[in-house]
This record gives sequence, C-alpha cells and structure tokens, in this order.
Amino acid sequence: MKMKKFTAILLTAMMVLSLAACGGEHEAPDNTEPPRTGTGDTQTPDTTPEKAPSEPSEASEGGKRILVAYFSATNNTEGIAQKLAEGLGADIYEITPSEPYTNADLDYGNSKSRSSVEMDDPSARPEISGAVENMEQYDVVFIGYPIWWGEAPRIMSTFIESYDFSGKMLVAFCTSASSGFGRSDSALRSAASGATWLDGHRFSANASADDVMAWANGLGIN
Ligand SMILES: Cc1cc2nc3c(=O)[nH]c(=O)nc-3n(C[C@H](O)[C@H](O)[C@H](O)COP(=O)(O)O)c2cc1C
Repeated sequence: MKMKKFTAILLTAMMVLSLAACGGEHEAPDNTEPPRTGTGDTQTPDTTPEKAPSEPSEASEGGKRILVAYFSATNNTEGIAQKLAEGLGADIYEITPSEPYTNADLDYGNSKSRSSVEMDDPSARPEISGAVENMEQYDVVFIGYPIWWGEAPRIMSTFIESYDFSGKMLVAFCTSASSGFGRSDSALRSAASGATWLDGHRFSANASADDVMAWANGLGIN
C-alpha cells in the first residue's frame, strides 16, 4: 500500500516536471525578443530598413508606416529623400518620368525648353514610369521635389492625382537654388484635399542628415 502511494506521488511529480519542461520550450522568457513568426529560420534579425515600395517595411515611427516619395532631376532632392527615409526607417520611392529630363529639357533660360513649356501649362501631366503598388498601406507620405519656377514640377501633380490619399498625412519637402518653400505645394494640396497636410520645408542641396531629421522629428507624426 505504502509502495503504491509512493509510486503515485513519484508519477505525479514526474508528470508535473515534464509539463513544466514542455512549457519552457514554447514560452519565451520575458527578457528575450518575441520569435519572428512564420520563418522558422535562425538568422540574426535584419536591421536594414526595407526599401521596396511593393512591400512596406515593418519599421515605422510610432507604429506608422511611412513612405518617402520624391522626384529629382539632378539628384539634389534625392539626397535629402535618402537621409529622410534612412532616419525614419521609411520606404523610399523615386518618381521616375517615362521620358527622362535631359539637360536641354531643364534649361530654364530657354522659354521653349520642356520644363518651361510644362511649367507654363498648369494642366501638363508628364507621365510617370511605374507606380507605388501598395499606397493604401501607408499612413504618412513625404513628398519631395525640386522647386521649378517657385512651384512643384508638374510631374508631382501626375503623382498626387494617381492615388487616393484620403485620411493619410502628407508633408512636402523641396530643394531649390535659393527660393523658399513658399506655396510650392498648393496645387498638390488641392489635388489631395482629403489628406492632412503638414507644413512643408525647403532644404539646400547640401543639408545634413541631422538637419533633415531635426525637421522630421519636429513634425509630431509619431
Ligand atoms: C526648370 C528649373 C526651374 C528652376 N526654378 C527655380 C526657382 O524658381 N527657384 C530656385 O531657387 N531654384 C530653381 N531651380 C533650381 C532647382 O530647384 C535646384 O537646383 C534643385 O535643388 C534641383 O533639385 P534636383 O537635383 O532634385 O532636381 C530650377 C531648376 C530648374 C531645372
């Protein structure tokens, strides 16, 4: 009888111990990162922000998914866009004209150059090559462009009119030789009036990452 009781206690103890051990296999201790689901891999976490606009990154400010979309004819705005996207852990998308701008196209001293003709015509809509496939997944979109005759280039209107930005937060930034930001985003604001627009900002071409992030962090988007 005594022997049976001892065996029962021993068996119970063994079951409790084995259940505790099983639990330990599946529950991560409090001080470790939660396991990445679905991959089953053992790679170290990749801290590089995802850049492909077709697959929004997990990285975001305050849980917000952010896209930096920009057009840049001579790479000045591109430099600012890259600093911004890197600092925010945002995705980045280049607005690429179907027909690239040549130096002759950009000749603002020539009233017949492509850029002059486009800027003389508020209804001009230069075609864009490619698209952001998943715009609906972004909460905040930064929109970068060079100032052309005090305005955003017409291709920016093509971009804005291509998507539904309702309910999103939009904020423009630009580079210029000397002009201020002014009302350069006014046509864009009208075309996406269902969005919440924050005040935009003008950068010089050589603005530092610190300059760019001081502005971005002051916007209160997170
Ligand atoms: C057609 C055209 C018009 C421009 N108009 C202005 C202007 O009104 N004010 C200004 O300060 N800079 C003006 N610029 C200079 C650009 O805004 C400046 O070089 C900008 O940094 C270029 O950016 P990107 O390299 O991203 O294209 C103009 C440039 C071009 C090509």
